[in-house]
Amino acid sequence: MPTDSVDEQFLHRALELAREGIGLASPNPYVGAVIADAAGNVVGTGTYTYSGVKHAEILALAAAGNRARGATLYINLEPHAHQGRTPACTDALIAAGIHRVVACMADPNPKVSGLGFEKLRAAGIHVEVGRLEEEARRLNEGFARYIRNGVPLVTLKSAMTLDGKIAPSPAEARELSDRIPTGGFSGTWITGEVARAHVHELRHQNDAILVGVGTILADNPLLTDRSGRARRRPLLRVILDSRLRLPVESRLVQSAAAERKNDVLVFCVSAREQKSDEQKKAQLEALGIRVERVPADTDGRPDLSGILRRLGELEITSVMIEGGSTVNGTALASHVVDKVFLYYAPKILGGTGSLPFARGAGFQVALVKRLHLHRFGEDFAVEGYLRDPYGE
Ligand SMILES: NC(=O)c1ccc[n+]([C@@H]2O[C@H](COP(=O)([O-])OP(=O)(O)OC[C@H]3O[C@@H](n4cnc5c(N)ncnc54)[C@H](OP(=O)(O)O)[C@@H]3O)[C@@H](O)[C@H]2O)c1
Repeated sequence: MPTDSVDEQFLHRALELAREGIGLASPNPYVGAVIADAAGNVVGTGTYTYSGVKHAEILALAAAGNRARGATLYINLEPHAHQGRTPACTDALIAAGIHRVVACMADPNPKVSGLGFEKLRAAGIHVEVGRLEEEARRLNEGFARYIRNGVPLVTLKSAMTLDGKIAPSPAEARELSDRIPTGGFSGTWITGEVARAHVHELRHQNDAILVGVGTILADNPLLTDRSGRARRRPLLRVILDSRLRLPVESRLVQSAAAERKNDVLVFCVSAREQKSDEQKKAQLEALGIRVERVPADTDGRPDLSGILRRLGELEITSVMIEGGSTVNGTALASHVVDKVFLYYAPKILGGTGSLPFARGAGFQVALVKRLHLHRFGEDFAVEGYLRDPYGE
């Protein structure tokens, strides 16, 4: 009989395999599976990827062959009992003679949650659920938010000084940027190389990135995933831009025009259908950029809640907001943020015109829970939740 620690070792391996699906499984969940025989030998493993179609446990069963009979399946998520893009995995596990299933968590989809375990138990398979559950829930929090509410998980990411400033005043910025040879201003000035490399890991974990046009005008960023890891769909670059001020010569537009990956989506407002807007819209579209008009919020800007519902329709399960101050303020005030990832550099900026992390009206104190602290060279980061992604 395997001991607890042996079970946990195999579940850790299943979670590792599931993580290999980051960038490749969305809009479906990350799933990794390990099959071990009665002597504790691994006889099959699998990782789910959307393009590979087959589920992790089916891949593991195929590798195990006859050795699956009497063996244990370790998996981070409940096996499916229903026909989806593929037949029910529970049937394949029963047919292969799996004796025991050890899973971290139930499927977060309320329509199917628990049904897989029920079917396995009804076939006489021993099922154990709940070990390493917290780790497993964090891994699939984007999928959970999306499948339960139809909107992506929203992470608000920012890099700031210890006094909570995300950029100096425009005049100070000009002076500093003269001394910085490359790229946008904020990213290169505040945090160090290790933290900046980590931002690309976060981008890699997200389906979309979202900024206000103010950041494009100030920093001219590319907003791409430069983690170097494979992804099935390019990171969708979303820009909030009420009156289409997005410069055609910006690096964002130029890269979209050169690469034609259909990976830039601009939201403007539907109230202002002026001729100049129409011309700019047509110009951007000719360069391979999607432009969508959406209803305005009370400030006359694209309404963030509506935008998130639209991103959900596009099968975007996670989006990272990368600021500036105005968009950060709107996102917090409109309660769309699920979690924050805030990088701090050991610097104090001060200055009268320097930009705070968030600005604008209507914001009330938000409690950040379940904190995780990270260290990146001289910088550190605070990760925490404003809302449970598994809640309503
Ligand atoms: N340190 C960091 O992590 C970091 C990250 C990003 C940016 N920054 C800094 O932040 C500064 C830019 O901040 P910012 O406040 O000027 O600009 P921003 O937040 O990037 O963009 C704000 C603009 O977005 C447009 N917008 C459209 N819909 C919106 C909505 N629903 N809510 C809010 N804005 C909406 C508005 O312009 P329209 O009314 O024309 O649509 C608004 O003025 C730059 O200096 C940049 O360096 C720092």
